[in-house]
Amino acid sequence: MKRCKILEIEIQNLKLSENLVVFEEQKQIPERESRKILSNDEPLIFVGGIPRSGTTLMRAILDAHPNVRCGGETMMIPNFLSWQASWRKSDWANNTGITRKVMDDAVSAFMMEIIAKHGEMADRLCNKDPYTALWLPTLQRLYPNSKFILMIRDARAIIHSMIERKVPVVGYNISDEKQMFRNWNTEIRKMTTQCMMAGGNCLKVYYERLIQRPKDEIERICQFLDIEFDERMLKHEEFIGVEVALSSQEFSASQVKNSINNEPLTSWFDCFDMELLSKLDRLAPFLKLLGYDTESDKPSYDYFASDDFFEFRSVYS
Ligand code: A3P
Repeated sequence: MKRCKILEIEIQNLKLSENLVVFEEQKQIPERESRKILSNDEPLIFVGGIPRSGTTLMRAILDAHPNVRCGGETMMIPNFLSWQASWRKSDWANNTGITRKVMDDAVSAFMMEIIAKHGEMADRLCNKDPYTALWLPTLQRLYPNSKFILMIRDARAIIHSMIERKVPVVGYNISDEKQMFRNWNTEIRKMTTQCMMAGGNCLKVYYERLIQRPKDEIERICQFLDIEFDERMLKHEEFIGVEVALSSQEFSASQVKNSINNEPLTSWFDCFDMELLSKLDRLAPFLKLLGYDTESDKPSYDYFASDDFFEFRSVYS
């Protein structure tokens, strides 16, 4: 009888503890979270170009605008664009009902999440990963209202910068300068051609003009992006750590901290072999085509600051 009583109590406790377990489990089931993914109609801004073309300076200037946020490089957007292009070609994608539309929706949503959520929210979201400039037609299809800023800079200054600052850039072999010029030519040809074909949604910005005529250039950029010019864009350095997020891991961080200056214009002078410079028109014909003086080993960049700079540009340049 006594034993029975104990058993009864044990059974009751067991039931109670079972109920408790169920109750705890119920409490742990989370509400299904609703996640908001921005539409691919967003008027995104992309900043790209060959690394060392002033892409970080450009995005810092835009970040200083109160309604724009670019933030640091995501590093993954150009890689993702490249992966998705190879998935599209594979057989499984063709045999699984994953149509081009399904793929575009998924890819644009994925990239939008990264772009929107890796930094503060803003009216105009922007992304700066230099090599998106090789994917303009894809970006235009994924984000039909997006605009692209293509940074262009003298190849001699770019290659000097990669070598001197030891910036590793895929495709550039720093022990072979000729190969570097050839690679620059291949990439800039692709980028400028795509920019030209983007039907007014891509703006070429020459680094040499941006740093010599900052106000005029920034106003031109604002007009293109359909945003109001803001004086703060001329003083991006004052907003570092506030509007302009800058990581010490970025190779250009130490330079972008400064106000816009002309020093990097000529830093490559006297650094290349004369024989190499004399072959530039063959190694990198786009340099001349883009308006750079390839005759001189110490060219003047005054032309890029001239009032009639845009009047005599050819289709490519
Ligand atoms: P140098 O290495 O020749 O000095 P990116 O950000 O595309 O990699 O470009 C880096 C180049 O932009 C660097 O060239 C750097 O000096 C230049 N740059 C960055 N901030 C600048 C500023 N405030 N004024 C002028 N040039 C700047």
